[in-house]
Amino acid sequence: MKTQVAIIGAGPSGLLLGQLLQRAGIDNVILERQTPDYVLGRIRAGVLEQGTMDLLREAGASQRMDAEGLVHDGFELVLDGRRERIDLKRHSGGKTVMVYGQTEVTRDLMQAREASGGLSFYETSDVQLHDVQGEKPYVTFSKDGESVRLDCDYIAGCDGFHGVSRQSIPADKLKTYERVYPFGWLGLLSDTPPVNHELIYASSERGFSLSSMRSNTRSRYYLQVGLDEKVEDWSDERFWDELKRRLPEDAAARLVTGPSLEKSIAPLRSFVVEPLQFGRLFLVGDAGHIVPPTGAKGLNLAASDVNSLYRILVKVYGEGRVDLLERYSELALRRIWKAERFSWWMTSMLHRFPDSDAFTRKMLDTELAYYLESEAGRTCIAENYVGLPFEEVA
Ligand code: APR
Ligand code: PHB
Repeated sequence: MKTQVAIIGAGPSGLLLGQLLQRAGIDNVILERQTPDYVLGRIRAGVLEQGTMDLLREAGASQRMDAEGLVHDGFELVLDGRRERIDLKRHSGGKTVMVYGQTEVTRDLMQAREASGGLSFYETSDVQLHDVQGEKPYVTFSKDGESVRLDCDYIAGCDGFHGVSRQSIPADKLKTYERVYPFGWLGLLSDTPPVNHELIYASSERGFSLSSMRSNTRSRYYLQVGLDEKVEDWSDERFWDELKRRLPEDAAARLVTGPSLEKSIAPLRSFVVEPLQFGRLFLVGDAGHIVPPTGAKGLNLAASDVNSLYRILVKVYGEGRVDLLERYSELALRRIWKAERFSWWMTSMLHRFPDSDAFTRKMLDTELAYYLESEAGRTCIAENYVGLPFEEVA
């Protein structure tokens, strides 16, 4: 079998890249280890930046998002019971974000792919990358017990943090930057109306909480928990009690509770590898970097990587601009590091670190208070939250 671009992984990165290439007439094949249902079963963040929305529109997968997504032009920060609204629209020159779950984005992209006739193989095993540094790379994999060989021009490694793509690059060719945070997020999804019409990121003595949503009838809440916590030890009742204690009083009084649809604990990590290219292999999305979820940058960063690689490939095939391939890593990383900084900063400001001393806590609280007292500080938070501009590919 032969294609132009082999895409490993059918998460948001692989599906979005595949769909954009499809529409540009660049042939591609997607290889995914799991079933479509498994991929759709993963519950992740749900805030889309303007650039991500625009890219989904360009991919022809935005109809439901535009109809059902909730436009948010602000969010709240809570510091020890005091509510502070960040007016995103005012401080970012009119930009907003869209609350629309990653699961729904993935579902829409899967449907768009099916409609476009793009070839995808789900439930593949033993995916291996070959001759990545040569002119003629290829991928081998097993599907229903048969071995398949896929020849291609380029490989997009969109297979997430645990994928095979990054692991196919010799360790001495990559530099890794990493921070593992000393806590996780316990998430709960419920069919209850959100406690507030905007997201609430709350810092409290008892630890951080986030009150988010998927729709006007479905809420998503998170609690900072210790790394040793087990989800089995968190009954719904215990979760709601703890959330109430971490919310400002008026919000806690309004909180509507109900049975959980899903509950899970996720660790928090910042992670980047450099470079994001090895020969004809390009790392995209979580395969090359991870952010902690504070600020909801994960999916949006994946979309900005896709934007860069897609525009480069269009120029490679359309105008013979093979010189641009060498620029992917540098272009993508420039924006990645800024989102890494913002996610790390939000995480540092809002969480309680078990090992931090009283002086450090004062410094962090003062830093956040200082940002909030200043127009420049609020602008800085808002422009990062709505998403910095995509890098130009020229
Ligand atoms: N072969 C084939 N597919 C694989 C392999 C493999 N060896 N390893 C992993 N995959 C698949 C996974 O099953 C998954 O469906 O690659 C996909 C990667 O998807 P994500 O982990 O969602 O990564 P990405 O598409 O880059 O999305 C980034 O989504 O996952 C969130 O937190 C993440 O929000 C961020 C964004
Ligand atoms: C979510 O709704 O799941 C969510 C929203 C904002 C974040 C993280 C997660 O910063």
